Amino acid sequence: FSTIKSASVSPMAEDNEGTVKQQLSKLFETSLRMTVPDEPDLEPLVVKCTGKFGDYQCNNAMSCWAKVKGKKTEFKGPPSIGQAIANNLPESEMIESCSIAGPGFVNVVLPNQWITKSIQKMLEKGVGIWAPKLPVSRAVVDFSSPNIAKEMHVGHLRSTIIGDTIARMLEYSNVEVLRRNHVGDWGTQFGMLIEYMFEKFPDWENAGEQAIGDLQAFYKASKLKFDADPVFKEKAQQAVVLLQGGNEKYRKAWSMICAISHGGNEKYRKAWSTICEISRKEFHQVYERLGISLEEKGESFYNPYIPKVLEGLSNQGLIVESEGARVIVIEGKQIPLIVVKSDGGYNYASTDLTALWYRLNEEKAEWIVYVTDVGQKLHFEMFFTAAKLAGWLPADEKLYPKTSHVDFGLVLGDDKKRFRTRSSEVVRLVDLLDEAKTRCKAELVERGKALEWTAEELEQIAEAIGYGAVKYADLKNNRSTNYTFSFDQMLNDKGNTAVYLQYAHARICSIIRKSGKDIEELKNTGTIVLGLPEERSLGLHLLQFAEVVEEACLSLLPNVLCEYLYNLSEHFTRFYAECKVNGTPEETSRLLLCEATAVVMRQCFHLLGIVPVFKI
Ligand code: ARG
Repeated sequence: FSTIKSASVSPMAEDNEGTVKQQLSKLFETSLRMTVPDEPDLEPLVVKCTGKFGDYQCNNAMSCWAKVKGKKTEFKGPPSIGQAIANNLPESEMIESCSIAGPGFVNVVLPNQWITKSIQKMLEKGVGIWAPKLPVSRAVVDFSSPNIAKEMHVGHLRSTIIGDTIARMLEYSNVEVLRRNHVGDWGTQFGMLIEYMFEKFPDWENAGEQAIGDLQAFYKASKLKFDADPVFKEKAQQAVVLLQGGNEKYRKAWSMICAISHGGNEKYRKAWSTICEISRKEFHQVYERLGISLEEKGESFYNPYIPKVLEGLSNQGLIVESEGARVIVIEGKQIPLIVVKSDGGYNYASTDLTALWYRLNEEKAEWIVYVTDVGQKLHFEMFFTAAKLAGWLPADEKLYPKTSHVDFGLVLGDDKKRFRTRSSEVVRLVDLLDEAKTRCKAELVERGKALEWTAEELEQIAEAIGYGAVKYADLKNNRSTNYTFSFDQMLNDKGNTAVYLQYAHARICSIIRKSGKDIEELKNTGTIVLGLPEERSLGLHLLQFAEVVEEACLSLLPNVLCEYLYNLSEHFTRFYAECKVNGTPEETSRLLLCEATAVVMRQCFHLLGIVPVFKI
């Protein structure tokens, strides 16, 4: 027994022929060139069939007709073009038959043998051979990114969960992903906190960490003082200037010391790192529970590069003076993008522009993906546009390098208001995850599992189910919508929940176990036969995994993968209702279908950051 299995295996390039859609598109492209040679730019439009006349369809006939109509042509309308497209398809072992429907849709049926061959190959070589090929080889995913010394809230939890999944999907697709934690370690909150620490704990150097203790409470108290006491406020602001090196002298000293560590004034530097460490510990508890790896390159990292980058933009004539500040004017926007504040300080935008410059030029990333709440949409639009004006990015969004803002909605409570816990207005994320686990454990104990399993198994499985449930509940919705956080809903074992899917997977594992057959041996000796319709549609759905991952990656929508996973479990349920497995003449074939389903489910879990369980 084990809850953890490594899922993806790096594929051999020659084993990867592309997704079904890509392979069919290639055939249709050849056919289109022959059918309408005067229109060499036509792109094949191949989609999965919704009806029952085929598995895939090519939808080019209508738009072809629009182009050739009026010109001298042998065609009489879209259906005759559709027929010609079908006739001109090259000979291929992936096409069983073709038919024309309605206004020229070309329906294709895939041969059963072709489907089973691909599934068997996947079983033999690993699910890595189904990884889609993406048009980029290196990407930055900027996610989680909480602010040091401030609360890590449910918005950051969403960013962490969504960003991790996107990174995993890209990694599976053989993209090198730089997982970046762009922590806010550079804002005005530092001056405030440092001054407050100096005041409250003069002995902070020896006892700072223990004295501060609960950073959120500390932050709150200092913010109260900041708002109420003008003298303190003044001091705090001064501290930021010292810290950031707002004037020329300090800036110089600052960049010098930055190379060695983050710091300016020695005393302030130490205070700052004490505060950072406390925050980091808190973040890491969340990352550890969720199994998330991230590399911190906070805002302060980019500070030394800001002057040079802004100088470049100034030389291009993009930065202008406005009311004492230095700004980039963005056409169509009411306000300009401020890159140097009127007090000479840099801000969120100067840092983000510089970080983008760094990611493009130093890290050579081709796709830079930012995961934050939808409230920051304007900020991203503005500095993406600035980067295009500077010629860092092509204006055409279909081309790379490219930036994408992955936005998401609010987390709501049962009362449809902003999510809060009963006791306090701030939700401690660690408590939230613990509660999910505790509830799962209680449920498992109620089912008598404490007697059946070891204590360690109980812990591991409760964790896998509990944390998985929190992740899945977030990921299954279209991320742009607000989502309602409800333990009762996410931990339900019926409906579209991770708990239900974990049960479905564990059940398949148990079918295989109960057969008493060595599945590894069957993979080498057995073959899959798709006899009944339920077997065939399960097989076809399995085969579509690659193109679903491709779509989820390119659209940056993890819910596309969740939907596929849930449908897979439904396909399996229908298959299992109709097809007896153990002790039948079809046993070997059906066991292999069970195994393939379990493998693909586990790969979906893996991409969603969920640890699969093999028994419940
Ligand atoms: N720290 C920011 C926040 O908490 C998110 C940073 C996102 N990344 C970026 N490059 N702007 O809202």
